[in-house]
Amino acid sequence: MKYNFDEPVDRSKNRSAKYDERVKNFGTDQVIPLWIADMDFQTAQPIIDACKKKAEEGIWGYTSRPDSYFKAYADWQKRRNGWTLDTDLCSWCLGVVPALAVIIKLFTDKEDKVLIQPPVFPEFFEITENTGRTLVQNNFLEHDGVWEVDFEEFERLVKDPKVKLFILCNPHNPLGRVWTQEELAKMLRLCFENDVLVVSDEIHSDIIFHGKKHIPAAIAVPEADQKIITCISVTKTFNLAGLQASTTVFPNMEMKKAFDAYWSGMDVHRNNAFSSVAMETALNEGEEWLEQLLEYISGNLDFIRDYFEEHIPSIKANIPDATYLVWLDCRALNMSNAELKKFMVEKAGLGLSPGSDFTRELSGFMRLNAACPRVVLQKALKQLEEAVNNLSC
Ligand SMILES: Cc1ncc(COP(=O)(O)O)c(C=O)c1O
Repeated sequence: MKYNFDEPVDRSKNRSAKYDERVKNFGTDQVIPLWIADMDFQTAQPIIDACKKKAEEGIWGYTSRPDSYFKAYADWQKRRNGWTLDTDLCSWCLGVVPALAVIIKLFTDKEDKVLIQPPVFPEFFEITENTGRTLVQNNFLEHDGVWEVDFEEFERLVKDPKVKLFILCNPHNPLGRVWTQEELAKMLRLCFENDVLVVSDEIHSDIIFHGKKHIPAAIAVPEADQKIITCISVTKTFNLAGLQASTTVFPNMEMKKAFDAYWSGMDVHRNNAFSSVAMETALNEGEEWLEQLLEYISGNLDFIRDYFEEHIPSIKANIPDATYLVWLDCRALNMSNAELKKFMVEKAGLGLSPGSDFTRELSGFMRLNAACPRVVLQKALKQLEEAVNNLSC
């Protein structure tokens, strides 16, 4: 089937956080919302059909999870990434973020430190600090728009015996980096040598462009699967985040049991009736839609690159190899973070994610979500161009 991603979808009346929370976040609903990481596209038709069928059953009592559920994840990983994962070591969770928060609680102590690589997904800061652990930041090095890991600093940090856990964002949000085998191997080996547990958040691993290839951390070096915890989900891939489901793959039964016991203690252990069918259908029947989606978003990214280069050269757009999130370097506008947010809202009419949510070191950045019909991006960038031009008047 041919999908039409150009078709505008009105999400302003469907309880969408991206639209409904504009006033809370930006003080007005008069902004084009290009912030939270979901897409303004309908999901794949087989998923819609499966959920409709489920809705028409009219009974949504407690829902079991058949063996076929994790098998669908395993088949997906094997087919797309060459990873043979053991379904006995898979656990269900309400989402990647809740899974990460509980992993920190269960596998580190209060006085331990957790390593992250900013600029990075803001919840990594929040969940670490909410659990009372100390954050350790391996900030990226940037040179002329190229973002690289500071390996020297990484090595220094993992050698601190208090650093017990590293949250790897694979691929990386918001920098859109698809890690190479060499980069992964270097980080993992340093962690293994220093007894640092690695948790790899691979929620963005299906959204990859420019011929790059995602490497699951669990197969990046021999025996990594016996040491690493991996968080995966197809909620980002298929725009299903509101259904709240993720899968965690553990390196051993002991860790899996500890995780399951934690959630069972709160009676959280079953998918809801719709997430169960939606995830499985996505994994088994969603690839035709996904291939077309990737082509469309890739076109959006080309459009964004060209538009900034031609019309808004004072802002540098970091075109990602993974994710539909574009990291905007607005430092040449010479604004504080507060001024930049105000400018984007009041002058450009845009609801973007402030860069300051992703880093405590840098200022002058914004993140733009490119997963929307191109006509929305055209309007948004035109508004931004005019606002920037007006600055020099
Ligand atoms: C790196 C990363 N991990 C996790 C999530 C959210 O995961 P979930 O909705 O499954 O909790 C996001 C959402 O943007 C993300 O970017």
